Amino acid sequence: MTQFTSTIRGHNAHVHLFPDREALSHAAVEYLLDAIEATLASQERFSFVLTGGSSPLRMYELLATDFRDRIPWDRVDLFWGDDRYVAPDDPSSNQGVAFETLIDYVPISDANVYPMPTGTKPAEAAAKQYAETLKGYFGDQPPSFDLILLGLGPDGHLASLFPENHPERQLKNPEAVPWIEAIMAPERVSPRPRLTMTFPLINQAKRVLFIVPGAAKQDAVANIVKSGEASLPGAFVHPRGDLTWYIDADAWGEESE
Ligand code: 6PG
Repeated sequence: MTQFTSTIRGHNAHVHLFPDREALSHAAVEYLLDAIEATLASQERFSFVLTGGSSPLRMYELLATDFRDRIPWDRVDLFWGDDRYVAPDDPSSNQGVAFETLIDYVPISDANVYPMPTGTKPAEAAAKQYAETLKGYFGDQPPSFDLILLGLGPDGHLASLFPENHPERQLKNPEAVPWIEAIMAPERVSPRPRLTMTFPLINQAKRVLFIVPGAAKQDAVANIVKSGEASLPGAFVHPRGDLTWYIDADAWGEESE
């Protein structure tokens, strides 16, 4: 495995290259285990934000099986970085997929799982409701998640922050941006109505881990991690703490050990 530090829009990022999705997924589980161990040495709970999409599915499967008993699930709190504004039993629901592939198989209390309230209407009220949930969780502390897991779209989007919606504008006046927004994804994306964490919230994280397997991500990886003139949404993630990119050879576009 190759690793180096890259500078993305002035911020250091630890980049790790893996031969394939399987190696990347195993490494992501080890990253999570290390983060949990380091965090719980000095605080009671570990706040972990899940991503949707297909990139995390092998990681979720490993967490539900081989690594299930190595995670102190009773001290973990689960959140989502975004969700489609659909019912949890809709096949496109991020929370639905996470329950089916991970949560239903691990001993975590429902009280410690915070799905986005996609049943609340309208979507703007659901966004406000989730933000209130987070405010209740963090209390008077900054909303600094211990780990936010992110995938990357072929267009460089993360969560539901799509290039056409110019999410980088959020960083011009972060205090004015809500933690959670209800947005319409571009017409090329389905389903369009989404709930998403915003950059000001994501960038408060103690750690962000991008997991980026697959050749479809080559152009986005080239723009964000290789070019030096990163412009896609993924380039605007710079957490207070550690930023790490796990990329496989297909997404990197070159052979990597
Ligand atoms: C979603 C995800 C989204 C995802 C990327 C990558 O709701 O779809 O949160 O941001 O991480 O689109 O998706 P894949 O992992 O399927 O390539």
